[in-house]
Amino acid sequence: MTTTLIKNVRAIDAQQDQVQDILMVDGKFAAAPTHLSPDEIIDGTGLQFFPGCIDPHVHFREPGFEYKEDLASGSKAALSAGVTSFFDMPNTDPPTFTRALLADKKALANEKSWANYGFYFGAGPNNQAEIEKVSGVPGTKLYLNTTTGNLKMDNEDRWREIFKLGKTVALHAEGPVFERAVQIWQECGAQGHLHLCHASLRREVELVRSLKKDPELAGKISIEVCPHHLFMTHEDREKHGAFCCMKPELATQDDLDAMWEGVEDGTIDFFATDHAPHTKEEKLSEQTFYGIPGVETFFPLLYTEFVKRGYSLSQLSAMTSANTFKNFKVQNRNGLLSHGSVADGFLYDPTIKKAINADELHSKCEWTPFEGYPLTGQLVSTWLKGELKYAKSQFHGRAEGEALEF
Ligand code: DOR
Ligand code: ZN
Ligand code: ZN
Repeated sequence: MTTTLIKNVRAIDAQQDQVQDILMVDGKFAAAPTHLSPDEIIDGTGLQFFPGCIDPHVHFREPGFEYKEDLASGSKAALSAGVTSFFDMPNTDPPTFTRALLADKKALANEKSWANYGFYFGAGPNNQAEIEKVSGVPGTKLYLNTTTGNLKMDNEDRWREIFKLGKTVALHAEGPVFERAVQIWQECGAQGHLHLCHASLRREVELVRSLKKDPELAGKISIEVCPHHLFMTHEDREKHGAFCCMKPELATQDDLDAMWEGVEDGTIDFFATDHAPHTKEEKLSEQTFYGIPGVETFFPLLYTEFVKRGYSLSQLSAMTSANTFKNFKVQNRNGLLSHGSVADGFLYDPTIKKAINADELHSKCEWTPFEGYPLTGQLVSTWLKGELKYAKSQFHGRAEGEALEF
């Protein structure tokens, strides 16, 4: 195992922001000094070091749609952008409706994934017994609106059966459908944790804000928001057509403002991307393909806007890492740089100014809706368990992502 010392770097996580040395020994962050002489010493002067991000909402498309993305290409794209962990969604082919199919996905990821992985379980029309028994997942994903795949569930009795199990349920539910789901969840006793994926509307943030005021519910409800709903409105959809078409769709400036208000006052718990690649040809075809890529533009876009708004970078780290691990009770990662935490992290150069260029991205998806967007800062290198995995556009070592434990 490699011992690495990064000297004099600004170390930023949810709990600290100070210039110090970062030492990685035996795959963990360690308190300097050590009697060991490091294999590598890096001068971190003027640079920043963050704990690896987690993107709790990606579609890496395997199995079934590997031509759009797969667990290797998606996880490499993630690492190149400081995302060292991800939760993948169940709308693959076949969908993740059984524990056997979940085990197949985990086996594939064990072989192919460069980043740490978790897999959502899918709520299907006939898999109640499987949902009841499944473990080792961030939660069950329940689709209540139309999107990619055939997972939409209209039958409210099925929603009730699922909520009554008292487990974590993540919803794709938009506006009034989310309001109805919350009502039914409360009628069922609000037993498990309810998570709203990709918030996009003011009314969703306002409902969650009011629910969180109830001490009985505060710790049981969470909400994520994606960069596209923080940076773009329906005007971008009109300008860029299918390349800005996703579900939930882009909303109004007032909705976008509500997302930032939710970030400011803590109503929004953490960020996610809903990385949902489709090929250029698909996007230009007659058919509608919902979804845009996002995992590689996740951190730099948010970083740029946090700097512009003068927000705390500790809060940025919390919302791209520690908050998410905590919300889903991940056992083997905490998103912190503290002594003894697993050494997943990345070095960031805040002085570089660059525009987003799809040619430099690693996803199989060869386009981005954020083409040309000016960024503050650029990733320098990424470490997973203390081993250098990405630097200067090169990947190092092997696919060694670990299964996230719940
Ligand atoms: O735009 C979207 N694309 N929204 C979703 O909910 C699913 C995703 C996909 O899988 O393509
Ligand atoms: Zn969704
Ligand atoms: Zn999604």
